[in-house]
Amino acid sequence: MRIVTTVSAMRRQARRWRQSGIRVGFVPTMGCLHEGHLSLIERARKAVGACGKVVASVYVNPAQFGPFEDYSRYPRDLERDISLTRAAGVDVLFVPDDREMYPTNGDGSFSTYVIEDSVAAGMEGASRPHHFRGVTTVVAKLFNIVLPDIAIFGRKDYQQTAVVRRMVRDLDFPIRVIVGPTVRERDGLAMSSRNRYLSVQERERAPAMFETIRLAREVVRKASAPLSAGQLRRRLIQFLGGQPGVRVDYVAFFDPDSLRVVQRVRRGTHLALAAFFGKTRLIDNGRL
Ligand code: PAF
Repeated sequence: MRIVTTVSAMRRQARRWRQSGIRVGFVPTMGCLHEGHLSLIERARKAVGACGKVVASVYVNPAQFGPFEDYSRYPRDLERDISLTRAAGVDVLFVPDDREMYPTNGDGSFSTYVIEDSVAAGMEGASRPHHFRGVTTVVAKLFNIVLPDIAIFGRKDYQQTAVVRRMVRDLDFPIRVIVGPTVRERDGLAMSSRNRYLSVQERERAPAMFETIRLAREVVRKASAPLSAGQLRRRLIQFLGGQPGVRVDYVAFFDPDSLRVVQRVRRGTHLALAAFFGKTRLIDNGRL
């Protein structure tokens, strides 16, 4: 596995592959990899085949964190990421630093952003202003540098996948976006680099996120008619927020394709939720 740290070297490699007609699958990450990421790498390999190339990136993107969020303490473990990606069969690991990704060129500041302002508006977009602007900007930059044919994202960040798909469509990136399933711990907790922040007690309570989704599925399955979103939301907030030390950020019901919020919940409606376990903010989602 080759480790590339500069934009120019990554671009040279990407151009060579393109000239030789080699297909490239790309898995962008912020590092501190877990089985969820490894399953996306596996999916990328499957998509490009043995003759294709798989690129993964590790870059903790400052532009997608708010001023009071966890950018400085976001977990970083590059040595481990290198051995995991090597073992997973990645061809190139792209690890740029901030100067490579957001150069100031001696004239002050980086000042061009990509903004998707429809599917990015609610949920994570409402709770974390500028988050998706940071995501779309860095993902567009990474796409321009890595020149992938296929890019793989995890379903755990459901809204992010919708935002990226929309950006790819609207800005004509010639890239197929594949969404890989959420990988869960045995007790149902969705794998996330942020799970490392949880104290022992918070970790014990964290499966309540998935239990909330299961509760919603159960209620919808038993209902003989569409349910009021307001009533079901109150019930789920009572359940999740009733766990000690848990503060619910949002519970949202929406159409899985348009991400439009719905007033009536039925089978096929999508549920997304965010909650703080102590200081750690977890997200999860599922189809009802
Ligand atoms: O999902 C993530 O890890 C990040 O948002 C991404 C897509 C790597 C962009 O920084």
